[in-house]
Amino acid sequence: MSNTELELIQHRAAIRRASFGGTVLACGLGLGCFARACLAFDAIERVDVVELSPDVVALVAPSLAEHIADGRLVIHQGDALDFDPSGSWWDVVWLDIWARGSPGHTPESDALRQRLAPHAAWVGSWIDEQHETARTLASRWLIGALC
Ligand SMILES: C[S@@+](CC[C@H](N)C(=O)[O-])C[C@H]1O[C@@H](n2cnc3c(N)ncnc32)[C@H](O)[C@@H]1O
Repeated sequence: MSNTELELIQHRAAIRRASFGGTVLACGLGLGCFARACLAFDAIERVDVVELSPDVVALVAPSLAEHIADGRLVIHQGDALDFDPSGSWWDVVWLDIWARGSPGHTPESDALRQRLAPHAAWVGSWIDEQHETARTLASRWLIGALC
């Protein structure tokens, strides 16, 4: 968990989509920097966050109190894998949990994607973005080394 510029850069795909407005579901609160970045856009109506750790919620929610009070932020404490999306629709779903796995095989992220995709216009995953970035850098390095 961090709230540095590097952290925000890692969420740029989802933040860019959130900038168009609407509703967001984030799985994983951390220090709340992704939620905060979304809430900075006036066009964002509501951000739902599902966070597993009650300790993380207790620590971070007070710093987001104004958004909770005005109803634009709702924090659901629980396992995102058990979160029931029935009857809901989000413009952006961002999977920001510490998912296990390797490129192309991230079981928790894959399960969440499958569960939430019918309820979202777009679903992205932090771990899959990191794998994709690593793959791109590795192939650039390989091309550079060979040419
Ligand atoms: C990488 S951090 C998120 C960092 C975040 N980008 C920030 O702004 O600080 C991952 C978060 O996901 C939570 N988490 C891990 N597994 C989870 C699960 N199955 N369901 C919900 N939250 C989970 C962790 O407790 C942690 O708060």
